[in-house]
Amino acid sequence: MRLPATVRMVEVGPRDGLQNEAQIISAPTKIALIHRLAEAGLTTIEAGSFVSPKWIPQMADTAAVVAGLQRSPGVTYPVLVPNMKGFEGALAAHCDEIAVFTAASESFSRRNTNCSIAESYARIAPVVAAARAHGIRARGYISTVIDCPYEGPIAPGAVAVVAARLWELGCYEISLGDTIGTGTPQRIQSMIEAVADKVPVAKLAGHYHDTYGQALANILASLELGIAVFDSSVAGLGGCPYAPGATGNVASEDVLYMLDGLGIESGIELAKLAAAGRFVSAALGREPQSKVARALAAKLAIKGK
Ligand code: HMG
Ligand code: MG
Repeated sequence: MRLPATVRMVEVGPRDGLQNEAQIISAPTKIALIHRLAEAGLTTIEAGSFVSPKWIPQMADTAAVVAGLQRSPGVTYPVLVPNMKGFEGALAAHCDEIAVFTAASESFSRRNTNCSIAESYARIAPVVAAARAHGIRARGYISTVIDCPYEGPIAPGAVAVVAARLWELGCYEISLGDTIGTGTPQRIQSMIEAVADKVPVAKLAGHYHDTYGQALANILASLELGIAVFDSSVAGLGGCPYAPGATGNVASEDVLYMLDGLGIESGIELAKLAAAGRFVSAALGREPQSKVARALAAKLAIKGK
């Protein structure tokens, strides 16, 4: 089993995590969290999204968050953008990267963005073109790459079709979202194999929610196929408001612990990452969901006695 020597971890907690929290975290707390994540060594940190505040009120302050960032050299702070209105917001905020999003299931696309998959391409195409014209990179997300909460299993070929389209439209990387975390390693591998027929593996990322506790196994299965970019949320924050029952993304601390154990370089410091997770969990008034974070906290408590 020859695994990639390095992995880039994409931190999505401040966006995917906080968009699904019932309580709205203040912009200064979000900014402090993002600074701590950069300090821990993350080089891609999603800062928020320019979506309709009626749909996702938790992200309504994204412009203030981006404006308040002290940007670290070598770190990018992407924001999600669903349409040209969102892109205009991102441009006005001087964002350095955007992410566009669609789904492999029609029903999920409609619930998440009020349009069909075909209509989503028509929205995404001018956004990516405008971003490129401004020298801004665009990442593409596909939701429901394994199962849809409304339609059930999604054929790997259907995911490949959407990935090919996002690639053609000019996305530099395609992130494959197991939105409701039902995937298991063989299904994840079949899906990746189908997509890799259309888009180079080096341009794919895994975005696995951990609802069924399978995300780390799915990351290992993806590493075996050469995927070297993974999205995760510090403290296991996250979910999706239009995916009933979906819990958070896989916890960044858990991913990093596994990568460290495999000898895979990521450039991230576990102690600092776990401290960032404790910081945001305290702001939410609960414990981190990450098992590694909890184990480290217990160890710290024993040492402190
Ligand atoms: P719509 O209601 O069809 O939009 O929503 P519309 O074009 O008809 O406009 C309706 C109103 O929204 C208008 O305002 C627009 O100005 C406003 P009004 O005249 O009524 O006052 N509006 C906007 N406001 C701010 N920013 C904008 C914007 N666009 C329109 N960009 C829309 C369509 C796409 C806007 C809506 O469905 C939406 O915002 N959806 C976003 C949902 C979302 O953010 N979901 C979570 C992110 S995706 C995710 O988490 C999955 C991922 O993690 C991968 C995975 O795990 O699967 C990425
Ligand atoms: Mg997600």
